[in-house]
Amino acid sequence: MKINGKHYQTIWETDEKLTSISIIDQRLLPHKFEIVNLLTFEDFLIAIKDMLVRGAPLIGVTTAYALYFAVKDCAESEFDATFEVSIKKLLSTRPTAVNLKNTIELARKSIGSLNSIEAKKEALLNFARKLLKEDKEICKKIGEHGSKLLEDIFRRKGATVNILTHCNAGWLATIDYGTALAPIYIARDKGVDVHVWVDETRPRLQGAKLTAFELLHEGIPHTVISDNTGGLLMQKGMVDIVIVGTDRTTRKGDVVNKIGTYLKALSAYDNNVPFYVALPSTSIDWSEELTVDQIPIEIRNENEVKYVSGVVDGKFVDVLITPKSSKALNYAFDITPSRLVTGLITERGICPASEEGLLSLFPEMVK
Ligand code: MRU
Repeated sequence: MKINGKHYQTIWETDEKLTSISIIDQRLLPHKFEIVNLLTFEDFLIAIKDMLVRGAPLIGVTTAYALYFAVKDCAESEFDATFEVSIKKLLSTRPTAVNLKNTIELARKSIGSLNSIEAKKEALLNFARKLLKEDKEICKKIGEHGSKLLEDIFRRKGATVNILTHCNAGWLATIDYGTALAPIYIARDKGVDVHVWVDETRPRLQGAKLTAFELLHEGIPHTVISDNTGGLLMQKGMVDIVIVGTDRTTRKGDVVNKIGTYLKALSAYDNNVPFYVALPSTSIDWSEELTVDQIPIEIRNENEVKYVSGVVDGKFVDVLITPKSSKALNYAFDITPSRLVTGLITERGICPASEEGLLSLFPEMVK
């Protein structure tokens, strides 16, 4: 997608020699656009943990390149130990986004039967490249399927379609297009009049900072609202559909996403507003035994709640908003039960949020 009219994706190989991987430092958006080159495995760890990159699909692709960078210069005798330690470190960075765990499992498989260390290194690099390419294709397909929902509403209503979204599940959270925003981009290209209500998304403000930024640069009409506004808008008939992303959707269709998603789903349910979740299959947790209370929910530093960060006179500042010694609790994600979800928009089509629904699109996952 575009920034100032120029096409970008969120992560790319800096040069042909692969000296580093380039990313956009998303902590600085929308006020500053800065590209950072990741040179070492430690750089990748910091980029994921400190949220220079974020969003489940982008975390997945960054993880794949991180694994290659972890082992690319190591000797044969060190390979296995380095690979395993790196996996442990990566798993501790962002525990909720299942793309990280899924990527690690696939990376392991990609080197499974290989003997030579050179072949293993090459397989890890090829795997990262494949994941990146597939993510773009998947998101485009999600956009095509999801766009039909918006086209239908537009046809029925004959006026602007108002979509509410939470957090950032646009191209900045993936490689390109995004998940929840992809249907909006494709519908706009097809001539649908769209307007997006952007939840600011406390405490990290991914909506106010990132979703607003990318919609602005794509010329999509949008309005930023405080997180508490959606319920009233739904009561007033000002929301036609809610579309959000997910960090992990269980086999049964329960949706883990940015904190506050659940409250939007409850409001949508109470007001008969369709509530859709857009997700690539890489964000599905297919584990059979997983119950909702076993899903790891990331708890981040309390200062993200106590301080608000922004720009004053061109300088980045953090402003304290609570009494200094008050405690804060910072759960990063919540769980929306499948019964509140109208449907899941995947790269293979739209299905009910249930095990049967998901398996109808992904029959290869039937056990
Ligand atoms: O903490 P973040 O910014 O990584 O959280 C991102 C989200 O919650 C997104 O909605 C989710 O990853 C889906 S992104 C396509």
